[in-house]
Amino acid sequence: MTALTLSTSAAPGLRADAIVIGVAKGAAFESDDLVVAPGAEAVDQAYDGRLAGVLETLGATGAESEVTKLPAPAGFKAPLVVAVGLGAEPEDGAPYEGEALRRAAGAAARALAGSGKAAFALPLADPADTGAIAEGVLLGAYAFDTYKANGAQAKKGAKAKNGKAPLAEAALLGAKPRDAAHKAALARATAVAEELNRARDLVNTPANDLYPEAFAALAQTAAKEHGLKVQVLDEKALTKGGYGGILGVGGGSAAAPRLVKLSYTHPKAEKHLALVGKGITYDSGGISLKPAGHNETMKCDMSGAAAVFAAVVAAARLGLKVNVTGWLALAENMPSGSAVRPGDVLRMYSGKTVEVLNTDAEGRLVLADALWAASGEKPDAIIDVATLTGAMVLALGNRTFGVMANDEAFRTALHEAAEEVGEPAWPMPLPEHLRKGMDSPVADIANMGERMGGGLVAGLFLREFVGEGITWAHLDIAGPAFNESGPFGYTPKGGTGSAVRTLVRVAELAASGDLG
Ligand code: BES
Ligand code: MN
Ligand code: ZN
Repeated sequence: MTALTLSTSAAPGLRADAIVIGVAKGAAFESDDLVVAPGAEAVDQAYDGRLAGVLETLGATGAESEVTKLPAPAGFKAPLVVAVGLGAEPEDGAPYEGEALRRAAGAAARALAGSGKAAFALPLADPADTGAIAEGVLLGAYAFDTYKANGAQAKKGAKAKNGKAPLAEAALLGAKPRDAAHKAALARATAVAEELNRARDLVNTPANDLYPEAFAALAQTAAKEHGLKVQVLDEKALTKGGYGGILGVGGGSAAAPRLVKLSYTHPKAEKHLALVGKGITYDSGGISLKPAGHNETMKCDMSGAAAVFAAVVAAARLGLKVNVTGWLALAENMPSGSAVRPGDVLRMYSGKTVEVLNTDAEGRLVLADALWAASGEKPDAIIDVATLTGAMVLALGNRTFGVMANDEAFRTALHEAAEEVGEPAWPMPLPEHLRKGMDSPVADIANMGERMGGGLVAGLFLREFVGEGITWAHLDIAGPAFNESGPFGYTPKGGTGSAVRTLVRVAELAASGDLG
């Protein structure tokens, strides 16, 4: 990963391959002028105050994540200036928002792939900005090259170089290296971004290498490294325990399912947060097989479990004063002679029975068992994260996740936490009338209901498996978890690490007693 340093050096004397500056669309009334953001004064001066005009000549508009490169002015040690768009300039001289800085830093870091060192001279007003820019750089520089000829797992002797190495080094200008608040912001950003990038790696790793047992082994390794407690239930233990949902979904695959419990505890913790992740390492749909065109990206169906894994490790690295238990419900959904059939009835870990009408509605089945297992510890709150429904993608698009809950204040708290960290999210209802669509003639509930409002139906199904009196929220990240179009801001193509930052923020709020 990119090495970050804080620096108060002036831009001209810096030995670097590039200086990154911010530009924006001017806020003045009816202006469409480009403005140069604070932090770039030295560069602007070296251009005799004409930098905005020069950039406009080159076609720059200040649009979000737009990158314009120009030669550095005479007298600068760095040869290149990279101007990155911040979007609209804040009104009345207000500071730039953290998310604008994060996105701009990310876009610039990606554009600088293949470079050695860059100095980021973006508008940096306080330690929170240091954190945002650091996150943006580390997340934007991310590349998944494991399977490329020059990647981490390249065969010996392979010589072809595919793609460029991520930006090696970044100095954040304007952030005092010896200031405790700036240092803390950098440390937090580094821990969160490293774990988030690890979640992206897991999502991007194909299902032939990342199957339930392999995922569980990675959790065990991470547990050792970070002093976490880990417990893995294999197929024998799942059978003995009566985890009918996880076993039913995993039954069709040659790769057996697992339930992983990963616990971080703090000796002075007052709250206990349980995080439950959908970990379908591949979703073929099972006997209700997905048609071609709907399964090519389904290695991403363990994004919820990856987010939970990353958040627990990040909480440990940050030493948060809260207990966090992560539950990874891992299974591969495949069709075979041993697969669950449409019409089968499963006896779930909670004791309830479920008629499986569609084997492609598998996420709710594995989550149901994990939610009930999590409930057994009576945590203060449970949050599940899942690439659960195509319906949520239709409702909210590819960048926004849906938030459902059995408690309105908790749903609001999650929505606000997501907003704070720069993750688009939106509250969704759990309309009671949709419950009866899941009534089954043979079992306690069916795993499918009305088609309309399918994301909410899934939420209502999950609610049935949350222990009495426990505050619970459900994040349906089916849209934002996997980016099939081009990269934007700090978001790469492929696995995005959706929900990691929200979960970490919620853990921080729980630690400080601010989660209600
Ligand atoms: N993993 C899918 C949901 C999904 C869709 C994730 C698109 C990411 C992108 C889930 O298991 C699924 O297949 N859901 C079905 C449920 C239906 C059969 C009730 C769906 O949404 O179509
Ligand atoms: Mn499915
Ligand atoms: Zn699925």
